[in-house]
Amino acid sequence: MMEEELVRLQEEAFDSLSAIKHASEFEPFRVKYLGRKGLITGAMRMLGQVAPEDRPRLGQLANTIKKEVEEKFESRKAQLAVTPISAPQAQQIDLSLPGRSIPFGKLHPVTQTMEEVCSIFEGLGFTVAEGPDVETDFYNFEALNLPQHHPARDMHDTFYIDDGVLLRTHTSPMQIRVMEKENPPLRVIAPGKVYRCDSDITHTPMFQQVEGFLVDRKVSFADLKGVLSVFVAKMFDEQTAIRFRPSFFPFTEPSAEVDIACVICGGDGCRVCKQTGWLEILGAGLIDPEVFKMVNYDPEEYSGFAFGLGIERIAMLKYGINDIRLFYENDLRFLAQF
Ligand code: DAH
Repeated sequence: MMEEELVRLQEEAFDSLSAIKHASEFEPFRVKYLGRKGLITGAMRMLGQVAPEDRPRLGQLANTIKKEVEEKFESRKAQLAVTPISAPQAQQIDLSLPGRSIPFGKLHPVTQTMEEVCSIFEGLGFTVAEGPDVETDFYNFEALNLPQHHPARDMHDTFYIDDGVLLRTHTSPMQIRVMEKENPPLRVIAPGKVYRCDSDITHTPMFQQVEGFLVDRKVSFADLKGVLSVFVAKMFDEQTAIRFRPSFFPFTEPSAEVDIACVICGGDGCRVCKQTGWLEILGAGLIDPEVFKMVNYDPEEYSGFAFGLGIERIAMLKYGINDIRLFYENDLRFLAQF
């Protein structure tokens, strides 16, 4: 009789534990079954009235049942705590779906091109020097053999900040800054931003250049040709033809502009190269003795070459981009292609 009652009580307790759906139902359950005046506790008190020979067996059974109900009570509580969502909600979550991917950023195409250009020259033994974007008239013009009122200053569309202070219009002032501090032999590249008051499909008010220069004894135009030929072969491809065209820069003598065979038509003539078959990529020359005098180098002892190239221009040719402004509009549809 007592035995049946205990087993029935256990089944009832288990069933109502399984039926619990909300945390608020645990306390009433505990009071009803496990509390001091609860059903299981009450049944145990009745043990005093059973026959002495049955007492140990029934006492053990009652203890086991109490323990099992307590255990199930705790585990059901823990179960509900980790699954706080209701059943209908749970069905809407498909745990087998792949996770959401996190989009990775990429380096800007101009940065990528800049890094590639610099690493080619670093491979040829050039070291990197950086200088200020806000420059003085002296470094940007004067020391580069461009005195006040020199007509070549007009080409630069300078942003002036103050009397004698400006945004550098090219990276060439780094030639002066480095040569002032160090003695030959020198092999240096100076990458960085430059500024000109100009904006159309081939000009932005800010763009990036790499200046390069090498100073030593007996440096000739052949050395310049050798270095730039290696650069073009690595940046474009081994077959790309290169041409030196006489030109003028106040800080080099002789000066040249360097062209490569058109990357679009290979030299046959097309719209991109304006039917010439050639594309200009940089300016270069042998450093003018006047520049050496500015930094107290003896032009009789030392000679050197210098070159300056525009990074956006190289990137446009390499990737076939026809409007330089695309680089600075930050349209992800454009940027994500590189
Ligand atoms: N500084 C020139 C410019 O921005 C480019 C240049 C031409 C740099 C000839 C040089 C050079 O070092 O030798 O237009």
